[in-house]
Amino acid sequence: MPESLVTPTVGCRFFYVSRLAPGQPVTVIAELLRVSRAFNRQHGITGALLFDGEHFAQLLEGDPAVVFPLAARIEADARHAEVDVRLRLEGAFPRLFEHWVCGWAEEEEVGARLVSAQAPALAQLTAFRELVEGSDVG
Ligand SMILES: Cc1cc2nc3c(=O)[nH]c(=O)nc-3n(C[C@H](O)[C@H](O)[C@H](O)COP(=O)(O)O)c2cc1C
Repeated sequence: MPESLVTPTVGCRFFYVSRLAPGQPVTVIAELLRVSRAFNRQHGITGALLFDGEHFAQLLEGDPAVVFPLAARIEADARHAEVDVRLRLEGAFPRLFEHWVCGWAEEEEVGARLVSAQAPALAQLTAFRELVEGSDVG
């Protein structure tokens, strides 16, 4: 989508942390990234998926009519477990990400800074953005 068509506001934010399901090889991530990139781009969903070798953290932002059904599919996805939703809000928010990106964080960084964090959701989002910026975004 051309940059000029990316709206500065979105209708919802969905943010969660989870853990790679037991017995799942790390290689499943390649497949889910392939599907995610195509779907998210096609539907104007922006945000990021961060993985540290064990934990995921993901922010999805976009049209609630698309994001919330996707969120339900993600929550039910057996490739990860212990899905802990930290933010599920409908409303007009500034987009935090211009695109949808994925990043590999340092080992245990997502676990230490997000999964075990007790901070309010917005502070967690700030930490999340910092981690995405410091990760090998691909
Ligand atoms: C950690 C994680 C993150 C995911 N993120 C996305 C995503 O951003 N976009 C997407 O289309 N699918 C994502 N998926 C895949 C969905 O769970 C689901 O497989 C996909 O929407 C296809 O749905 P279907 O198998 O019911 O057709 C993710 C899965 C996992 C485990």
